[in-house]
Amino acid sequence: MSDPRARARELARDAIARGDVTGWFEQLYVESERDGFAISWVDLAPNPYLVEWIERQPTPPRGRALVVGCGYGDDAELLANRGLEVAAFDVAPSAVARCRSRFPGSRVQYLVANALRPPADWGASFDFVFEAYTIQVLQGEARAACARSIGGLVAPGGRLLVVARSRAEDGPEGAMPWPLTRRELDAFGEHNALGEHDAHGEPGLDLVSLTELVEPGDPPVPRFVAEFVARS
Ligand SMILES: C[S@@+](CC[C@H](N)C(=O)[O-])C[C@H]1O[C@@H](n2cnc3c(N)ncnc32)[C@H](O)[C@@H]1O
Repeated sequence: MSDPRARARELARDAIARGDVTGWFEQLYVESERDGFAISWVDLAPNPYLVEWIERQPTPPRGRALVVGCGYGDDAELLANRGLEVAAFDVAPSAVARCRSRFPGSRVQYLVANALRPPADWGASFDFVFEAYTIQVLQGEARAACARSIGGLVAPGGRLLVVARSRAEDGPEGAMPWPLTRRELDAFGEHNALGEHDAHGEPGLDLVSLTELVEPGDPPVPRFVAEFVARS
């Protein structure tokens, strides 16, 4: 495979044209394993912004954690090794199978699930939810819908950490991965713990910290690192 990212973009374009926004992930994982090329987002290491966040906590986070679009499982394993009770899911069965084979004795519960339609009993039930780079590989209405759905998984008082590529509201969308605008980031907060806006139309999660940074590179990559807290 000469350019794995070009292949990913091709699969994404075809699946989205068929009206299937998540259909290409499994295809990409299968091809990557069959043909022995590395998927652009697979680095087999925990997300550095998650590592930094966890190091910064005055007391170690405890309770139930959920990793969205977990890929090959490194973020989930980090959280489990820090004492959290972790569930991690991906829409691609091959990614989940790989997590299980990479970490055979893991305490993480790895599952195939779709963040757009999560299991009903996950609603408002996780003390910590970690989402990195999933919304930016979706298109159209699925982006905000998925962000709201993820917000709805956070227990009252629980926290959500989001890491994503970013762009200005009027900046070009570019090619997959499609960076998030600030308005798209706000969609994570537009779901309260009970799954509906309250009587005042208030969003359910507060944005408590937002770092906007530019990672050096060619080209440099602007990112959001955002922390939300679900209202009690
Ligand atoms: C860009 S990758 C990021 C993977 C991992 N979070 C990381 O940071 O390395 C996005 C992942 O989300 C998964 N994914 C995409 N849409 C999803 C959805 N609706 N529900 C669950 N997983 C999804 C993909 O299969 C893929 O593994």
